Amino acid sequence: MADQAFVTLATNDSYAKGAMVLGQSLRRHKTSKKLAALVGPQVSEPCRSVLRRIFDEVRLVDVLDSRDAAHLALMKRPELGVTFTKLHCWTLTHYSKCVFMDADTLVLSNIDELFDREELSAAPDPGWPDCFNSGVFVYRPSVETYDKLLQYGTEEGTFDGGDQGLLNGFFGDWATADISKHLPFIYNLSSIAIYTYLPAFKRYGSNAKVVHFLGKTKPWSHGLEAKTKAISGGAHPSFLLDWWGLYSTSVMPMLQEEYGDQPFHTECVEEAVEESLASVAAALHLSPPPQQHEHQQHQQHQQASSEERKQKWEQGQADYMGTDSFDNIKTKLDTFLK
Ligand code: UDP
Ligand code: GLC
Ligand code: MN
Repeated sequence: MADQAFVTLATNDSYAKGAMVLGQSLRRHKTSKKLAALVGPQVSEPCRSVLRRIFDEVRLVDVLDSRDAAHLALMKRPELGVTFTKLHCWTLTHYSKCVFMDADTLVLSNIDELFDREELSAAPDPGWPDCFNSGVFVYRPSVETYDKLLQYGTEEGTFDGGDQGLLNGFFGDWATADISKHLPFIYNLSSIAIYTYLPAFKRYGSNAKVVHFLGKTKPWSHGLEAKTKAISGGAHPSFLLDWWGLYSTSVMPMLQEEYGDQPFHTECVEEAVEESLASVAAALHLSPPPQQHEHQQHQQHQQASSEERKQKWEQGQADYMGTDSFDNIKTKLDTFLK
């Protein structure tokens, strides 16, 4: 339907990369809805061009900031005042219904059925399940609602300093009024929940439709330290690989085209992918995956022993284009999960 859309937000180039991967994940799972991205003025022109190639609409919005340092400090996320910018999504009134998704979410299967729900539908927040998490929600664009939200923010503020506190205040009867507005958790599987309730993840995790890389460390965070943290304290390695797989195959080539000679270093990104995979492997103490692609089998005799390859892998010298490719690592991780 042309008047329904998935909407996301990026106020800088880092979150823009998240938005690109999210957009590609929706396309990959053949959504029939429009895709819209709200961008702040800081997002660079090459990133906007890539977004325009993926999204039907890229709209420039002013950055709104809660300037609520005190509450944000409680969450240890001083940067989240700008999530107030999300409220602009209510102004997209050329759509009758939308699903907002944070730029740090990734779609794992078609989720168009969310449009059967009404405003405001969302999944519980893993930290306080009587609040909804505002990383994925169904809403109806309306200037009237937008104005009321801003007014509510001015009068009542936000208990977490970000949009989630404000939205939970405004849609304050969410927890009790109408169960059909409670989205199943699989539509917003916060990566931290995997660690706080591992048996449930083992039981239900394979049903996940949307993974949300909630928390300070995001899949696109560079630097080995950041990635190690992401693996130990944040996202599940398998989802992290899904993200990086999509980023390297269907976003990076476009970024390269748009950046041309400008300082967007492929090596840097490739290194980051390699480092990421190496730390995933090291964190899991994986031995190399058993499955190989046909074209690699004739090279079998030349290949190092399993132990040697494990060592190389842990030193970051893996055969990422061959035996240690995304597909093979993913297969291994899936086996591990089962
Ligand atoms: N966001 C943004 N720029 C920022 C911070 C946040 O564009 O500097 C947007 C982005 O869409 C992001 C959402 O606001 O996904 C919420 O922030 P984040 O996902 O970091 O919060 P978390 O889910 O980790 O609490
Ligand atoms: C959350 C949500 C995010 C929101 C932030 C600030 O944890 O995941 O979507 O922007 O809090 O309220
Ligand atoms: Mn988020």
